[in-house]
Amino acid sequence: MRSSGVSRRPFHSSETSYGPSRSASRRGTGPELRPDLRLTTRLRGLRACLPLDAKRKPSRQSGFESWYPYYAGFTEEFARGVLVELGGGRSLTVLDPWNGSGTTTRIAYEMGHRAIGLDLNPVANLVATAKLVHPEDALHVPGFTRRLASAKPVGVRPSDPLLLWMAPSVAEQYRAMEAAILNELGTTSSGAVADLRTESIPPLAAFMLLALVRAAREAASLRDVTNPTWTMPGEGRRKAIRTLGTRWQAHVARMAEELAARRTVLSRSAWLGQIRTADARALPIRAEQVDVVLTSPPYCTRIDYVVSSSFELAALGIGSNSAEFERLRLATMGTPLARRGEPPEIPRAWPADIRSLLASIRAHPSKASRSYYYKTFWQYFADARAALAELNRVLRVGGLAVFVLQTSFYKEICVDLPALYVGLARSLGFNGVVVGAARVQRALAQIHPHSVHHRRESLYREAVVALEKAA
Ligand SMILES: C[S@@+](CC[C@H](N)C(=O)[O-])C[C@H]1O[C@@H](n2cnc3c(N)ncnc32)[C@H](O)[C@@H]1O
Repeated sequence: MRSSGVSRRPFHSSETSYGPSRSASRRGTGPELRPDLRLTTRLRGLRACLPLDAKRKPSRQSGFESWYPYYAGFTEEFARGVLVELGGGRSLTVLDPWNGSGTTTRIAYEMGHRAIGLDLNPVANLVATAKLVHPEDALHVPGFTRRLASAKPVGVRPSDPLLLWMAPSVAEQYRAMEAAILNELGTTSSGAVADLRTESIPPLAAFMLLALVRAAREAASLRDVTNPTWTMPGEGRRKAIRTLGTRWQAHVARMAEELAARRTVLSRSAWLGQIRTADARALPIRAEQVDVVLTSPPYCTRIDYVVSSSFELAALGIGSNSAEFERLRLATMGTPLARRGEPPEIPRAWPADIRSLLASIRAHPSKASRSYYYKTFWQYFADARAALAELNRVLRVGGLAVFVLQTSFYKEICVDLPALYVGLARSLGFNGVVVGAARVQRALAQIHPHSVHHRRESLYREAVVALEKAA
């Protein structure tokens, strides 16, 4: 295995933690790793929250947790365990800046905490908001849904992104029902209808809309591709079906039952948190407002979250040939797209292990390593650094960020993301520790069918990293 300076020891001992580096520490602690027993002691209970990947077992790929086929970073049990451990009976402000399908926001709300879930992708925000609906409300909307489903089809613009995926008559039914939902449940007091590309809607509206999107996906034509993270329109989009409304009602009923079947229920307390479209690199939150960050950032595996949600984005009005789609793809952390400009130099301010990894990738003899791959990895760490700096700003002193991260590979080079995040966070003024690690049953990198490493199961590890905002 090639050494990147970080690959020889894929995991730091879970008993070791590190204080901020010289540049960040007020006390001027040296750059050497400083065991921080206080932090390790504080986090002892977190290890009991492992394992993380139970959600990817087949039994978890149905019901409530499968409302959107997202590769979630951690289980609900893990999120609950972490918040019990860190909350100690207090009410917390909990943030997930890469909220995805909303495991953190759902569990934090369930437990009575104030939750903030942010994601660049409006599809993720729709799913996360839908998960906040109260089962009593969801179970009692069939009559309402039937009425909305009878909305008269409306004409669609020739530029409507749904037309790439379905016959015009189906898109017309879809837009009529979508307008009915938004008119009834998604307008503000001034009568303005929410713009789904950027604005939030209430949980019941999100629940009904997600059911409609799922029904429409069934009625759409999607190409069969070997890579499950790549979604493209198929050839059968002229097929006209008249029953989108009936399918929608069936989805609403099934999803309501799945919600009601959950062992943990939401209280009737008002949803005081927020789920919104935002960039983790520029958080719309004032300084020192957050107690706990619980999240799973995109990994270094070139998964294109935007392309994988192409159909759902089209439903929300963002077509795959639009400038907005391209903007989203470019802005997403871990994007496989190289942003404009020359491959940049490695900043001296970045930690040695990241600099050494990037240098190894740049020097790798394989095709495009020096140009494309080096640049995408460079972008990844630039984004991770910007986001960590933002988390440091919004956390209260002593507040904790808990990250779930996976190792991956570039060719034979191990990218030990958990250790790299600890080093990066430390350079920005956090104390950091790898709390525990586990072997991954199905790593995100292995989802790529052409991954040369997909048989190297034993080498994939998933770890919990905890970062504390230092005083
Ligand atoms: C690994 S997923 C999170 C999974 C989540 N923990 C769950 O339970 O579903 C990463 C998420 O980060 C989002 N994302 C990527 N870049 C982002 C950015 N710059 N700002 C905010 N969200 C971003 C992606 O859209 C994706 O939903």
